[in-house]
Amino acid sequence: MTHISIDLSKLYSFVSDEKINSLQNEIDLHYPSLWTKTGKGNEFLGWVDLPSQFDKDLFRRMEEDAARLRENSEIFVVIGIGGSYLGARAVIEALGHQFYDLLDKKKYPYIVYAGHHLSEDYMAELLEILEHKHYSLAVISKSGTTTEPAIAFRILKNHLEKKYGKEGARKRIIAITDKQKGALKSLADREGYPTYVVPDDVGGRYSVLTPVGLLPVAMAGFDIRKLVEGAADMEAFSRRFKTIADNPVIAYAAARNALYRSGKTVEILVNYLPNLAYLTEWWKQLYGESEGKEGKGLFPAGVNFTTDLHSMGQYIQEGNRIMFETVLSVEKCRHKLTIPRADDDADGLNYLAGQEIRHVNRMAEQGTLMAHVDGSVPNIRIQVPEINEYNLGQLIYFFELVCGLSGYLLGVNPFDQPGVEAYKKNMFALLGKPK
Ligand code: PA5
Repeated sequence: MTHISIDLSKLYSFVSDEKINSLQNEIDLHYPSLWTKTGKGNEFLGWVDLPSQFDKDLFRRMEEDAARLRENSEIFVVIGIGGSYLGARAVIEALGHQFYDLLDKKKYPYIVYAGHHLSEDYMAELLEILEHKHYSLAVISKSGTTTEPAIAFRILKNHLEKKYGKEGARKRIIAITDKQKGALKSLADREGYPTYVVPDDVGGRYSVLTPVGLLPVAMAGFDIRKLVEGAADMEAFSRRFKTIADNPVIAYAAARNALYRSGKTVEILVNYLPNLAYLTEWWKQLYGESEGKEGKGLFPAGVNFTTDLHSMGQYIQEGNRIMFETVLSVEKCRHKLTIPRADDDADGLNYLAGQEIRHVNRMAEQGTLMAHVDGSVPNIRIQVPEINEYNLGQLIYFFELVCGLSGYLLGVNPFDQPGVEAYKKNMFALLGKPK
């Protein structure tokens, strides 16, 4: 069963129903190769059956480690970059209290992130905070050699050891890395840190449903079993349903590829809830790194409405007509809050008195959709009933599967990222790294 549905009705004036449906033949060719792991990059297709094959002991281990670290930590630092942090952050921010750090009573540690850039000020200011707080950390790097998290870990390992002694620090560090190779694995073995494995056949940006994403999510107090259950149900559904008409995965992949082929080269993921901003960041990485190669691929962009309607809204309405929007439309909110009546009605809003804010947000969404379609921006709507662990699990798997299939429709390997080496080569040469 899927909780995710898709509405393509606002596309047909740009690409016909027939054009979209004509992709079914290509899909019939490529979709099975994801399941049989015979397509391009098949050595990295382990994420496909990860939810259904999930090792139940691993849940227990992660929950126990999270409970143990929670006892002695006010803050939990997640060190990682790209696929080694965005998934966890997307889930934690989507599910969490939006002012968690300001809550008086906290049941779970506050999650902070490090190693996802090279800002000296950020690290220095983080240390300033950590000086006066009890904390623990996860260092996450599949390769174990990525510069940004390696620098952050070096600094925080020293800090922890100074603060708690070598033995104390050891009890506050978890390493999540490759099974055998890499500097982090050797270091973790030498120091005796508890270690979780990033499976060989799961690449960074497809690893949110491994300990890479799940351990930080468990630390933040969310139900990792429900997250994986949602993904497993999406997996089972998608194994069964294989057509544009009956599976939103196939419909989305077909629609975005039909739009790309008709000259729309930018896809904007739109959300109307600020707690989904990092889901968009995760999505941007997943699609950008998977599809942008060999001179091809949709450019994945993201906006947070209604905030960005007051900035990017102008470009989307009237700028270069190269884009389409994919709107992540969420039905229910977590809270209920109505707009109050004002005696003087100075702002003229009394006509909304008694309405919930969600109603205004919903009308903003509908009004924007109509305006943008009128302005020649095709719209795909992905509908989700509410944001919870189960539905996020479905959504994560949904986006991963669409991404794999879309990459195949484009003719690229969606599971490698040869292009990211170029900047590293230059940076290392400039830094004088020994050969
Ligand atoms: O998707 C990917 O493979 C990348 O974005 C990686 O996740 C990112 O570069 C971090 O790599 P690592 O986990 O090896 O430190």
